[in-house]
Amino acid sequence: MDNILVLGCAGQIGSELTLELRRLYGDSHVVASDIRQADKDILESGPFEILNVLEVQKVSDVVKKYNITQIYHLAAILSGNAEKNPLPSWDINMKGLLDILEMVKELKVGRLFWPSSIAVFGPSTPCKNTPQQCVMDPNTVYGISKLAGERWIAYYNKRYGVDTRSVRYPGLISYKTEAGGGTTDYAVEIYYEAIKNAAYTCFLSEKTYLPMMFMPDAIKATIDLMQIDAAKLSVKDSYNIGGMSFCPDDVFKAIQKYIPEFKIAYQPDFRQSIADSWPQSINDDIAKHDWGLSYVYDLDKMTEVMLTEIKKKFGK
Ligand code: SER
Repeated sequence: MDNILVLGCAGQIGSELTLELRRLYGDSHVVASDIRQADKDILESGPFEILNVLEVQKVSDVVKKYNITQIYHLAAILSGNAEKNPLPSWDINMKGLLDILEMVKELKVGRLFWPSSIAVFGPSTPCKNTPQQCVMDPNTVYGISKLAGERWIAYYNKRYGVDTRSVRYPGLISYKTEAGGGTTDYAVEIYYEAIKNAAYTCFLSEKTYLPMMFMPDAIKATIDLMQIDAAKLSVKDSYNIGGMSFCPDDVFKAIQKYIPEFKIAYQPDFRQSIADSWPQSINDDIAKHDWGLSYVYDLDKMTEVMLTEIKKKFGK
């Protein structure tokens, strides 16, 4: 029986992934951890530990205490926030990975999931249907740390036989926990503002296309990748996963079908140039071939669920 540790369980991905892992593996087999207190549903459904990825000795004590066989290491500073604080963000994203890799190797933890991102790509990358292998010249702290991280997990895999697995997440959209400080966050905020105020001022311009994915598809992809036989995995750095591709104007129109009075204004800020350096759409044929990646949600299906669930949150 696997015992799983989630680092960063209070974040946008962690808060949903932890609950799904508990449903699949049993509540007591999934230890949630974060640098801050998690939500009630996580605290009450299974073990929780306060952990900072920069204090690896404490992480290692928890790994031993619970006989951990798999780790999902989600703790990171996202693109927008990392630009405001480059060096401390580099430390969390990079030292926070290297120490955990070393610990996983020493303690022989069976498997490590670590997320990469479309941020590994840069202005010289082909921006449409971006291939798995191409020029990668990220120009954000976050993107540089993710690209370096990809090389390190591939190194530990090849040199020490550590079973590392990873996907390059596109922008992730969810209603449970809001994203924190990313460039793709507009695609979450827009739904909240549509429900709260029927108006939204977008920090990216109208026709900025980016790859995006609804959280249930991302959670399924993540767990599927972690469950598959290692022999099937041909990519050792990080798999492209694409989801869908849309721009703020597409989301605006999708929401207007439900809220006709919804209004949008555009005031691009520093995140526009980050978005402009990222792909518009992703080629994920290799993930489809190697481990059966598939998606359920398109923009319309996602919009229906987002609006319904956020309305419930606000008692509307
Ligand atoms: N969603 C992330 C960000 O915007 C990209 O991985 O920072």
